[in-house]
Amino acid sequence: MAQVRLQKYLSEAGLCSRRGAKDLMREGRVRVDGKVVDAPCEMFDPEVSIVEVDGEAVGKPQKLAYYMFHKPAGFLTTFDDPRGRPTVKPFLDKLPVRVFPVGRLDMDVSGLLIVTNDGQLATRLMHPSYLVPKIYLAQVKGLPTERELNLLRTGQILILGKPAAPAKARMIKSGPNKGSLELTLTEGRHRQVKRMCAAIGHEVIRLKRVSYCDLPLPANLAAGMTRKLTASEIRHLRAQVGLEATPTKN
Ligand code: URA
Repeated sequence: MAQVRLQKYLSEAGLCSRRGAKDLMREGRVRVDGKVVDAPCEMFDPEVSIVEVDGEAVGKPQKLAYYMFHKPAGFLTTFDDPRGRPTVKPFLDKLPVRVFPVGRLDMDVSGLLIVTNDGQLATRLMHPSYLVPKIYLAQVKGLPTERELNLLRTGQILILGKPAAPAKARMIKSGPNKGSLELTLTEGRHRQVKRMCAAIGHEVIRLKRVSYCDLPLPANLAAGMTRKLTASEIRHLRAQVGLEATPTKN
């Protein structure tokens, strides 16, 4: 068999997205023929060499699987935490195939995560150029004004020195000293909602993702539960990022 790029092989084996493969390598968790490899562009021959992640051999690509997962707050979106904090692993280990989350939610954030072993789809869904819409409900301290919401809507907020893309923002509830905001973002930068709200002077008290790429978090999917995506949901996700309905290979 021809030489293939290690990063691509790992994502096509359903272990992670391409970006996730880079992280695994950077963390020193990938070995080829016993040697740690940290360069994503490393080429190797899968017919001849043995690839291991965390000491486990990476086998042939599995059957593609797609689920939605209602992540509860209080769990890291990772499989392993050096500091021993709770992770989403026990929830996803219950599934019959090995899948990984598409993107991340902060530990204190709940809501919808797509989990899959379709590395090609995951890589595209996470890429900012596909402008995948993500809807969040944010409970914030104080009551944002229309002028403040307009700063979010018109891309006038800087995150780490770079403007955040314009977001849809609307107040959906207001209480005595707090309000609930619905925010639709097409980017997925680290702690983006919290940083955007902080930039207009309103700290996020609670955050939940209620929709991902137009798929809503179902009201009957309790926190901690997963359910298979339907064929039409899978087709929808793939079409949104320019992929044909059925993968030709993975
Ligand atoms: N924005 C955040 O601040 N945190 C998340 O987990 C997701 C979006």
